[in-house]
Amino acid sequence: MSESVTAVHVVTIDGPSGSGKGTIAALLARELGWAFLDSGALYRLTALAALNQGVDFADTAALAVVATTLDVQFLPAEDGLVILLAGERVGDSLRTEEVGAMASRVAALPAVRAALLQRQRDFARHPGLVADGRDMGTVVFPDATVKVFLTASAEERAKRRFEQLHSKGINASFDRLLADIQARDERDSQRTVAPLRPADDAIILDSTQMTIQEVFAAVMVQMRLKGLA
Ligand code: C5P
Repeated sequence: MSESVTAVHVVTIDGPSGSGKGTIAALLARELGWAFLDSGALYRLTALAALNQGVDFADTAALAVVATTLDVQFLPAEDGLVILLAGERVGDSLRTEEVGAMASRVAALPAVRAALLQRQRDFARHPGLVADGRDMGTVVFPDATVKVFLTASAEERAKRRFEQLHSKGINASFDRLLADIQARDERDSQRTVAPLRPADDAIILDSTQMTIQEVFAAVMVQMRLKGLA
């Protein structure tokens, strides 16, 4: 018999972009030896596939078809994951601000969210799953064992992004990054379907003044309280 989602422990880490949730979720999955879902990647891949297929972003029905038929593989690799979209390796383009902004547009469409729902739930497997996104604790895994909502001020998140780009030798404007982050926050929080908000039973962590190690330690405290670590 196949296992239901609730038979597997799920830890959800939701929050706005740049809050550090992706880093924490990946660290936690590695520490526990659990599966990992980067749900934002699915929205980014939908946007990228629509671009590749020349789909008009105003055509809601066509975007829903792209999400339903998304041909994607996540393959484990030495330094993380290799993502194949329609058999082709996806590079750094997936992580650009432009694709993030387009992802947040397609993510506001109910038909796209519905198309990706089961695909996300299918990531749950024994012994557990760490899922990172915006609505993991509220919509996709409402019965998750531990729910974390990780946030930080928009200025701090723009600063982190600026430093990350700088370390890769990429010049960026801090003001532009801050404006992009604020626009994406606004779109993600104000949309009618699955808006960015903490689940009622989520632990809220503000990482503005915290290091990654401190956030990780705080999450591990919650895991221990539930007997999961
Ligand atoms: O987390 P990431 O920045 O990769 O997500 C890209 C976009 O995908 C977000 O701005 C958001 O609009 C959307 N998203 C979402 N629900 C999720 C994960 C991401 O709406 N669970």
